[in-house]
Amino acid sequence: MMRIPDSLLLGSATAATQIEGGDRNTNWYAWSLAGGVTGGESSLPGADHYRLFREDVDLMASLGHQCYRMSVEWSRVEPQPGQWSSEAIAHYREEISLIRSHGIVPLVTLHHFSCPQWFQDRGGWVSIDCVDTFLRFCRTVVEELGDLVSEWCTINEPNVFANDTYMDGRYPPGHCGDVGSYLRASRNMVLAHLGAYRIIHETRAQRGYSGQTRVGFAHHLAVFQLARTTPLALLSRWLINRLFHEIFFAGFVEGRLIPPLGIGRPAGTGPFCDYVGINYYSRHLITPTCNPTAMFGRIGVAPDVPDERLTDLGWEIFPSGLGDVVAATWQRYHLPIFITENGVADATDSKRARFIHDHLEHLLRAIDNGARVERYFHWSLLDNLEWNDGYAPRFGLVEVDYETMKRHVRPSARYYRDLCRTRTLLEVEDD
Ligand code: FCB
Repeated sequence: MMRIPDSLLLGSATAATQIEGGDRNTNWYAWSLAGGVTGGESSLPGADHYRLFREDVDLMASLGHQCYRMSVEWSRVEPQPGQWSSEAIAHYREEISLIRSHGIVPLVTLHHFSCPQWFQDRGGWVSIDCVDTFLRFCRTVVEELGDLVSEWCTINEPNVFANDTYMDGRYPPGHCGDVGSYLRASRNMVLAHLGAYRIIHETRAQRGYSGQTRVGFAHHLAVFQLARTTPLALLSRWLINRLFHEIFFAGFVEGRLIPPLGIGRPAGTGPFCDYVGINYYSRHLITPTCNPTAMFGRIGVAPDVPDERLTDLGWEIFPSGLGDVVAATWQRYHLPIFITENGVADATDSKRARFIHDHLEHLLRAIDNGARVERYFHWSLLDNLEWNDGYAPRFGLVEVDYETMKRHVRPSARYYRDLCRTRTLLEVEDD
């Protein structure tokens, strides 16, 4: 059985909007009221974590987690422009202190898909002053929480965010095929990351906060597959890869704007990232199209994938892809890698333990081959609001009964706990 090296911490990840509940200032509340979530569900309940956070932190500690990725909700911390909520800040201080008291290392995300409604009303990530507005928020959060947190994730999945907001219409304000906004928002997020990287380092250094400051972002990396390698298909894959992966690698990790985002080095010389965060879920089949508003390709799942390799959301389970994206990212940058998300929608919990085993197996092989991987955050600690897909997809190690908000530890969570405790990739007992 494979050993899990001590340098790789195992834990779980969540995002505020998906679990906290009770926030009417986020743009996801208005979006859900307007019918943006499947079945007309509301973002308001979440998993009631804002109220139940003490119970949830105890739970993650009892499950042996060594690190925890969470986000702070911008709309709670800054409910009106330039007005800061001392209640929200005190809340996050208490939650993070509790996490640390269990010896769990926190990683805090500053932007995980949601924003205050006022920010969206001003044009969101395509508005003229969005970068400065976001950086003002970052500065305040790091001043207020920076003594408790040394590891930061500036922006979660800028590619998925920009795509689902401006191309696919799934996230508020729901534009479709708006390539101009896709590129503009992506460029602004690059600039926001570069600014936040500097602010976080400077603030923690000036204030003498302890612990090694580490700042990165969470890049969603997908494996793209072609049915046939025709010239059009190759071109389509190149373009999708460029627009979905490369412009973000160049911007966030290398500090470079590359076409079609722009050209040049807006923030001088680096570094721009202390680790690369990878969110990995699936492999996608690309079918080429000549439609620029669809990024020249449609994305789907190969027709021959058997049901047992599909998640409840119909995503292909493709564990070797994790090893491949990790190896490629390590080769490219030689920066520490955090697996900031990896998980499965699996309501019956019949696939999750095997999913974890198989993905970790490929990850450990990549580590054996030299990649420095320091964190694995399983998505997710709890069942949660899966954005526009609502509450039906069940990603939690821990099940949430949405009637009572009671938590039930799933068998796969116990399997994962045993990995955390024994530091060994235990076999999965199939029933
Ligand atoms: C990722 C998101 C995360 C969650 C998972 C399933 O794209 O970052 O919030 O919804 O997908």
